[in-house]
Amino acid sequence: MASRTPQHDGRSGVVCGIGASLPPAERSNADVAREGDLATSDEWIRSRTGIARRRRAGPGIATGDLATAAGGAALQSAGGAAPDLVLLATTTPDRRCPATAPEVAHRLGLGPVPAFDLAAVCSGFVYALTVATGLVRAGLCERPLVIGAETYSSIVDPRDRDTAVVFGDGAGAVLLRAGERGEPGEVLAWDLGADGAGSDLIAIAAGGSAASGAADRPPREDRYLRMRGREVYAHAVRRMTESSRTALRRADWRASTLGAFIGHQANQRILDTVGDRLGVAAERRFGNIRDVGNTAAASVPLALADTAARGVVRPGAPTLLTAFGGGLTWGSIALTWPGARACADPPSRSRHFGRGPVTPRHGPAPRHGPAPRHGPATEPTAAGGSAMDSVHDHVITVLTEKFDIPAEGISPGTTLTELGLDSLAVTELLVTLQERYAVGPPDDAVTGEATPEDVAALVRKLQNGAQRSAGQGTPE
Ligand code: UT7
Repeated sequence: MASRTPQHDGRSGVVCGIGASLPPAERSNADVAREGDLATSDEWIRSRTGIARRRRAGPGIATGDLATAAGGAALQSAGGAAPDLVLLATTTPDRRCPATAPEVAHRLGLGPVPAFDLAAVCSGFVYALTVATGLVRAGLCERPLVIGAETYSSIVDPRDRDTAVVFGDGAGAVLLRAGERGEPGEVLAWDLGADGAGSDLIAIAAGGSAASGAADRPPREDRYLRMRGREVYAHAVRRMTESSRTALRRADWRASTLGAFIGHQANQRILDTVGDRLGVAAERRFGNIRDVGNTAAASVPLALADTAARGVVRPGAPTLLTAFGGGLTWGSIALTWPGARACADPPSRSRHFGRGPVTPRHGPAPRHGPAPRHGPATEPTAAGGSAMDSVHDHVITVLTEKFDIPAEGISPGTTLTELGLDSLAVTELLVTLQERYAVGPPDDAVTGEATPEDVAALVRKLQNGAQRSAGQGTPE
């Protein structure tokens, strides 16, 4: 399926119902630390992720239960119109076989409508809403019900610090219907993408056909979701920013005029960085990560439902959804804000998010307003000492402008940690340099012990390597 938005003169897909469901059991950061015997703290989790609590399904509640509840709520929000297709985005189906969507459709009393699951991990809902819009535009269905539902508690190792503090359970849903152009809730444009080269960054090793023939009882570490957090962070920032820009361009919108921006609730600092890069006004960014954590495919519709329940966005306002997840996958959708109010009671204490509670522990002073879009102090040159100086100058410029570090505090040999950058701030520095110099530093190559000179040297090394490869590929 083309990821580009086709032009169309015919009917549109219009969001006409929004629903959500969260399991009742709440786990605070302290609960998660205690249950997994984790060396972590509420302060660390809040400052690095923005998460304070999350919901856990627990025994007796499966993904299908949450999906059915959220789907039913979306139908109620739409006034009871019956869907003619069910599309469920999930990474955690009730069983490996069959798909969960048919049973959800059955439990909703929808009769023999087509129903299937879609697996694109945390981008799943954005993928599913795009597919459903295409089906409506093509006349293949009239009212698809699109659900994102997850019980990550079934695949997260409570003893794994990298994932246990991040993920939560929940479900969100929208009903789409065929409608007219210009109606509030119209899906206008989208962008989808994937890069399987990064498939190992978020993965469960055991349980799939690739592991068939392996031991009946795979080792513990293979049975659970594993995530290489910092690398994922860097990809998430880059892909969600680029994909958002593409969807905005296709809708002919500017980020500064958005009425609502909802990103995948992976990490508040990713959301802040992406929002800043795009230039979205802080008061137009919405989400509920503090109260529900990262709910993977459920995250975007849960945040949508949370915002809709509060009635804070004007129907028809330009809206951007963006997501990134395992696969690697990413996607963005430009739609106008629907007229429907969300049903069910997403019991999260939702809030408008901005910089609020997320203050890096050892990180830079919080900045206000969009990150400055500045070029390097001097342009990178082909090679040699002056080029090295220019990269170094740019590293210093980024440190002072993006991270608010006073220039006089940066002396030769000062490490990034001493300058106040925590691990995620180091990653953000690298992503910024990666974009400016079009090189791909391995994201773990720089730690807080590196100095700005080390970072500049690495960028130059990578630049020289890239130039050599380009030269080798050029015909004589
Ligand atoms: O939904 C799909 C997309 N997912 C994402 O986008 C997730 C993106 N990644 C992240 O949000 C972050 O990588 C995490 C929040 C998951 C982890 O943060 P991090 O800063 O990347 O952690 P790290 O593994 O690089 O570790 C940095 C430091 C280390 O300490 P030292 O060596 O600097 O002293 C770790 O030992 O933080 C320590 N650490 C922790 N400390 C307390 C790592 N995890 C924890 C923890 N509690 N949970």
